[in-house]
Amino acid sequence: MDWEKVFATRSSRMKASEIRELLKLLDQPDIISFAGGIPDPALFPTEEFQQAFANTLTGDKQTTALQYSVSEGYVPLRQWIAKQMEGLGIPCSIDNILITSGSQQALDYLGKLLLSPNDTALVTWPTYMGALGAFNAYEPHYDRLIANGNRSAKEYQEAAAEKNSQVKFAYMSVDFANPTGETLDRSGREKLLDLAEELDIPVIEDAAYQSLRYDGEAIPPILALDIQRKGHIDETRTLYCGSFSKTLAPGLRVGWVCAAQTVISKLVLMKQAADLHSSTINQIAIHEVASKGFDKQVAKIFTAYSTRRDCMLAALEKYMPQGVSWTKPEGGMFIWLTLPEHLDGAELLAESIETQRVAFVPGHAFYADGSNRNTMRLSFSQANEDTINEGIRRLGLLLKPI
Ligand SMILES: Cc1ncc(COP(=O)(O)O)c(C=O)c1O
Repeated sequence: MDWEKVFATRSSRMKASEIRELLKLLDQPDIISFAGGIPDPALFPTEEFQQAFANTLTGDKQTTALQYSVSEGYVPLRQWIAKQMEGLGIPCSIDNILITSGSQQALDYLGKLLLSPNDTALVTWPTYMGALGAFNAYEPHYDRLIANGNRSAKEYQEAAAEKNSQVKFAYMSVDFANPTGETLDRSGREKLLDLAEELDIPVIEDAAYQSLRYDGEAIPPILALDIQRKGHIDETRTLYCGSFSKTLAPGLRVGWVCAAQTVISKLVLMKQAADLHSSTINQIAIHEVASKGFDKQVAKIFTAYSTRRDCMLAALEKYMPQGVSWTKPEGGMFIWLTLPEHLDGAELLAESIETQRVAFVPGHAFYADGSNRNTMRLSFSQANEDTINEGIRRLGLLLKPI
């Protein structure tokens, strides 16, 4: 069977990333890996989940927990999220919230809802590679979103028109972004909303890391600023994607979209068609653990990750040669390195694995056009301080000859 002949055209852009293939090789025990952008399992609230799952499978919750449920999501969990959102300056009701299987599913649904082939999506350069993966299936063009910058709505429109295309949305990870660790300041958020208003497009606000702030002042989410402008969430254009993956546990696959009811209603139909609903038992367990101790869990992560971030920043200062610069994130899991232009992150990774036994993610994978090869992403979430120090020392040796 010639499968290529029968695959739909949309599948042609679904390619296994060379990076992911390379990173599969990193399980060897002597490798120091700053590659995986995943939480430290030692910080999972394991006992709390043991208790929560035991509770859901005894007493009156057990029939609900193992049964089909509504596509919108488990009502007490949506109520808990609505309250959290209110704390962020986003007054909303449960009708503004859809539970998804991780925020990754939300990105897929939003791509499906908003993109026809040949439409243009505005994304930052670099951006979360999983967002590109989700949107690619809907065959868009990408243009470079400069949220804080100087490209006018007209320029974006003209660039799209040249391809017979139209701009459909702007997507951005605004707090401690994956991959750069950077945060968009308040005026940048306002400018992004101005641009979206001028273009009359939605903003997808990826808030996967929103709770992981270690220092600096919290900045209102774009959706909160949008509500300040419009008076009510149902009048807004911002589609907020939240997640429990970075705070509680990614394996349960629970995230949410918070947005105007009109959009949520459409997404509910999409969810019905795709998977009916997210796992009932996982939603109940997440609700129990979150409602009993979300803040305590975030504080635990805060202490561990902020120490590791400080340690990595200090080691970079100590070991990086001149010509290398890096971001100084106020939260999240990532630091982004920019190397002299003649260097190639992918080539360096191969060399690093062979000679230094240190892994990272080459930066070009986060660019919609695969450019900026002289960049790399380091994650500080999983390694302890000694390992971070040793790994960065070795990276310094790798880069020294530049
Ligand atoms: C920026 C960003 N958005 C979304 C996701 C998806 O997370 P999840 O589907 O686990 O909520 C990730 C995961 O790494 C991410 O880094």
